[in-house]
Amino acid sequence: MNKAKSIKNLLSVQDLAENEIYAIFNRAKNFKGGFISNEKPLSDKKIGMIFEKSSTRTRVSFEVGILELGGYPLFMSSKDLQLGRGEPIKDTARVLSRYLDGAIIRTYEQERIEEFAAYFNKPVINGLTDLYHPAQVLTDLFTAYEVKKDIKNLKIAYFGDPNNMANSWINLQVLMGFKLVLAIPEDFKINEKALAFSKERGGSFIVSHNKTEAAKDADVVTTDVFISMGQEIDDAKIKKLMPFQIDETVIKLAKDDVIFLHCLPVHRGEEVSEDIFEKFSSNVFEEAENKLHVQKAIMERIFA
Ligand code: CP
Ligand code: NVA
Repeated sequence: MNKAKSIKNLLSVQDLAENEIYAIFNRAKNFKGGFISNEKPLSDKKIGMIFEKSSTRTRVSFEVGILELGGYPLFMSSKDLQLGRGEPIKDTARVLSRYLDGAIIRTYEQERIEEFAAYFNKPVINGLTDLYHPAQVLTDLFTAYEVKKDIKNLKIAYFGDPNNMANSWINLQVLMGFKLVLAIPEDFKINEKALAFSKERGGSFIVSHNKTEAAKDADVVTTDVFISMGQEIDDAKIKKLMPFQIDETVIKLAKDDVIFLHCLPVHRGEEVSEDIFEKFSSNVFEEAENKLHVQKAIMERIFA
């Protein structure tokens, strides 16, 4: 492995510090307000985007963001690369490293992006893995911060599958110190890596198997699909998760000014009821827009 130690990646939220996250949020706010439209911090930088899974928001917002920052995005679906025919990820990384100035990867195992990053002599950003979705969770907290003007005193309640979004919330809680409750079925486990990071760094979150307890006085309620990309449709799993649906009961127990967030795409009638999704759709589509602003701030920090 030839990667210089000084290269900064964003493979998970664990790669950031609290002050960097506030700096990203401040920059994102300025990007959103149109205050820094003339600066081109990625001028002439070629950024590869290697996606091994589907994407609407992450792909388009990163691609547009790179263009707005003066860089040149190259989108590569793994199907179009020799990677899709079995070329090792470490060889792909060593070749692309000679052409590109940075990469955004969406893939399966976290070990796969870690291996890519180890052999790619330029910075790498995680655009979602089975384990984490750091750019998304930063966008979500930014959206909550924008509305609530607070982070430390927020109660954020996540309902449903303890997946890449839940793991990312656990990481972010360690750094930002809000109150986090994860409402999950009794026989579902929190990922060991996310748990270990929280323990090591003195984070704290509550695991609840009780939807009403989790919802009580929440400032932010959030969820994600029950079946993530790369997982088989599993009716038994969906059945166990259904009692954790965000519905009217959850909203009634939460604070009066609660907001609902969802990274999208949504499965109406599974993780959230149709009514509640539509009622809070303005929050959710603001969150989708915020991906562009937050990711520009992330890219400026990692690639510029
Ligand atoms: N939220 C999110 O990552 O959406 P996409 O899968 O469309 O990129
Ligand atoms: N947990 C979902 C998030 C999609 C943006 C997935 O991995 O498919």
